[in-house]
Amino acid sequence: MKRYIIGVTGASGSVLAKRVLSYLSDTQAELHIIATDMGRKVFEYETGIPWSQFLRSVSQNKAEIHSYDNKDMFASVASGSFVTDAMMIVPCSMATAAKIATGTGGNLLCRAADVCLKEKTKLVISPREAPLNSIHLRNLLTLSENGSIILPPVPMFYAKSEDYNGLIDGIAGRILKSAGIENDLYTKWNNGKEM
Ligand SMILES: Cc1cc2nc3c(=O)[nH]c(=O)nc-3n(C[C@H](O)[C@H](O)[C@H](O)COP(=O)(O)O)c2cc1C
Repeated sequence: MKRYIIGVTGASGSVLAKRVLSYLSDTQAELHIIATDMGRKVFEYETGIPWSQFLRSVSQNKAEIHSYDNKDMFASVASGSFVTDAMMIVPCSMATAAKIATGTGGNLLCRAADVCLKEKTKLVISPREAPLNSIHLRNLLTLSENGSIILPPVPMFYAKSEDYNGLIDGIAGRILKSAGIENDLYTKWNNGKEM
């Protein structure tokens, strides 16, 4: 069974975390979920759904769900001996990106990301801020140079989606694909022809 870590931080874009987690919860996978305090709060603010209620609802689906206290450094995902297929941080705040880039983490989410970098496990980061200052850009460059995939939540305009959910699906699909999970949420380019 595939094993994925999903980190949720306090950047705007919780709807992407919701879409990625909902999609994965319908697959035969092990999901290890770590939300920061602000990740939970912004999720609740932006989606109107209490975090614990959301976790309960995805737990009813096919996937095996494990969720962690971000302070629990004894958790399995804090160790390189716990082998995973990929980690996604969706959305990723500039604060968390900075902590991972500088190795100053101090919480489980950052530690799990650090483990991915040292073990060369796929790490997909969806950083959300606008505009980006030079500190943000340098941190993201450092993460990219260390093997992370930096996938900002930029809509696939060429898919000509006319609704919000279509745009969200497009971005969520690209995040999943970058983590090695092929899916049909996003439109594949076909020389400009309809697929
Ligand atoms: C509604 C809301 C939206 C936010 N959006 C962003 C954002 O898009 N990007 C960002 O870097 N921080 C954003 N922040 C600030 C982060 O939540 C803050 O920096 C926090 O310390 C991040 O902590 P974390 O990385 O542990 O989740 C937002 C905060 C709030 C309340």
